[in-house]
Amino acid sequence: MSRYLISGGRVVDPASGTDEVADVFVADGSIAGIGRDPATADAEVVDASGLVVAPGLVDMHTHVREPGREDEETIATASAAAAAGGYTAVCAMPNTDPVADTAAVVEKVWALGREAGLVEVLAAGALSRGLAGEKMADLGEMARSAARVRIFTDDGHGVQNALFARRAMEYLAAFDGIYAEHCEDAALAAGGQMHEGDRSAELGLRGIPAAAEELMAERDIALAKITGCRLHLLHVSTAGTVDAVRRARAAGVRVTAEATPHHFTLTDDALTGYDPNAKVNPPLRSEADRAAVIAGLVDGTIGVIATDHAPHALEEKDVEFQYAPPGLVGLETALALGISELVVPGHLTLAELIDRMSAAPAGILGLESQGALRTGGPANLVVFDPNVSWTIDPAQFHSRSRNTPFGGRTVTGKVVHTFFNGRRVVRDGAVESEALV
Ligand code: DOR
Repeated sequence: MSRYLISGGRVVDPASGTDEVADVFVADGSIAGIGRDPATADAEVVDASGLVVAPGLVDMHTHVREPGREDEETIATASAAAAAGGYTAVCAMPNTDPVADTAAVVEKVWALGREAGLVEVLAAGALSRGLAGEKMADLGEMARSAARVRIFTDDGHGVQNALFARRAMEYLAAFDGIYAEHCEDAALAAGGQMHEGDRSAELGLRGIPAAAEELMAERDIALAKITGCRLHLLHVSTAGTVDAVRRARAAGVRVTAEATPHHFTLTDDALTGYDPNAKVNPPLRSEADRAAVIAGLVDGTIGVIATDHAPHALEEKDVEFQYAPPGLVGLETALALGISELVVPGHLTLAELIDRMSAAPAGILGLESQGALRTGGPANLVVFDPNVSWTIDPAQFHSRSRNTPFGGRTVTGKVVHTFFNGRRVVRDGAVESEALV
């Protein structure tokens, strides 16, 4: 196995509090030493001066589309996009076809991730069979399967029936599984195309009120309180949800939350040209909501930044706004948006950004091999330039889909190398060809 001396980079590891210039020695898949001049005979030197060396990013929310929509993305192409974006682990959402609601499907997703070999692919399991919100999926079997599922969600849909939500939480609490909710009241959101507000009135598009998210967030928090289940709120988009999570956490409820780069970067102003690539669920909200999401990331109410990477075929997105499916790809732009929108303006330090994108999600998912630079631990790390500016060009994406509202945007911060289990899977910004399938 290759040996690397990653020399002279700024090592930022929020888990240990390290933020200093040091060398990182990688051998036999592991971090063999961190410091000045570790013994490094035969190692290939990777010059990291001026660069940041950090634990690989961990995405709690990736739609891999396999099985079922391999024309939009496969586990291999999602893995390549993830590695290119600095990720060493992603959590695959279960809204595939067939739905990942059995041990057989989650094991297949997990096995395809291993085969691709570029990042760790964890499978999330569905809460309900077929995402129908009625009968519980095989939660225990998925947890006990080779995929060892830890997080369960009907993402793409909110669980509408409160009794179903309660029963699923009771069941998950028995083995400390995580109940993850896409908070959306279907009746309030029905037919909605974008955030309900002045902008939707101007554009003549039906709105989705903030309350559609907040009601379900409040309901789930109440249920987490009585069941003791761990609750994770996906893609938080409104000020009211941030406030609800803040109060719940202060009261000791076991709730965590994530926000996406698009929700901390854009508002419903991005819809004024009816760009279907800016159509997403939950929708881009108001400036006050965006500011509240950032405040939540700053004070740790929202502990995690997750992409909600949602590939869609060009022919399905490139249609009249109301017919376009919601979602945008995010794996290859998340780190740069985090640096540009959160670190450059001074909301977060670089170490805090890396915490929200790596250590915190690894901690929630219980991943010992991710989220920290530990001597003796697996070498899962990213080397990036925090200062370089570049212009996002979707044609360069490794993802099979191109649906992003960020094409043409100039951002700061770029991935240079990604190491997965000690292998350099991204070198000088390019996914290693022998690693590509
Ligand atoms: O915009 C979205 N797209 N939100 C979701 O929750 C699901 C996702 C998808 O699967 O396309």
